[in-house]
Amino acid sequence: MSNDLTITDLHPSVDDITGDVLRGLSATPKHLPSKYFYDQRGSELFEAITRQPEYYPTRVELALLADCGPRIAAAVGPRAHVVEYGSGSGRKTRLLLDALEDPVAYTPIEISRSALTASAERLDREFGDVEVLPVLADFTQAVPLPTPSRRADSALVFFPGSTLGNFSREESVRLLAAMRDTMGGSGAALIGLDLEKDPAIVEAAYNDAAGITAEFTLNLLRRLNRDLGSDFDLAGFAHRARYVQPEGRIVTTLESLRDQVVTVEQQQFAFARGESMQVEQSQKYTDARIGALASEAGLRVVDGWNDACDWFGLRLLRRA
Ligand code: AVJ
Repeated sequence: MSNDLTITDLHPSVDDITGDVLRGLSATPKHLPSKYFYDQRGSELFEAITRQPEYYPTRVELALLADCGPRIAAAVGPRAHVVEYGSGSGRKTRLLLDALEDPVAYTPIEISRSALTASAERLDREFGDVEVLPVLADFTQAVPLPTPSRRADSALVFFPGSTLGNFSREESVRLLAAMRDTMGGSGAALIGLDLEKDPAIVEAAYNDAAGITAEFTLNLLRRLNRDLGSDFDLAGFAHRARYVQPEGRIVTTLESLRDQVVTVEQQQFAFARGESMQVEQSQKYTDARIGALASEAGLRVVDGWNDACDWFGLRLLRRA
């Protein structure tokens, strides 16, 4: 029953949104962290992005998970304790749990208590045989896992959505190293990665014709105005997303449309017309890149599956 769910609270440190924003606005060039996109409205806008015809990653990854279920199950083995980093809409989790052989437990790890409770309760209702053991924690650090009442053969960290791509290279290696600790000796990680492809296809995904992605990007400023009392004029900035080579990543910026001054916590920040402030990066991967990241984190890629067009991939990582 859903009210039997006990949250393991590891007391993650709360975000220093004021410090992060003041630091980012004081830097040259200016930047803001993309993790602040996801307030209530930002999360709704992201869900709307996943329904845009140009935004292929979610659709392709869902189809891939549905197609590869038996192969993933064979590679992972029976009685896994599935540990999800973050909690998405639940559709990917459902496909994974349905595919695996006799999964023992499901642990979503989230920094937001409300998102954690919602996903844990939903999964608990749907999968009666899977023990749901939610953990309130920051998954960029190693997380000690709760012990299921039925013995698990291994832990499987699930990190879909190519969310790894929003982290810098150094942050990605640190995150993967923490994941290695969390999964334990016999564990594995299943990671969803958006792959390098025709730049026109990638750029279209981050510049949808309906303008939802632009709204999502500008919502960051609305959120800061509300939570920090800043005075960003949303009409004074424009969303720009371009595929940067040879790095192979989408870089999203907000471009100042005129000379203007923004006040945050009594501090003034001048923007020149045409000045751009980076707000997100979204790495697209090659096998060489993910192999190098894994090895720097003490991991190796042991299995992988792509869709028929090689647009999106799932990779299974184990300790090196
Ligand atoms: C949340 C990492 C899957 O980088 O593609 C979508 C976020 N930003 N459109 C991505 C996002 C703009 C997204 N992920």
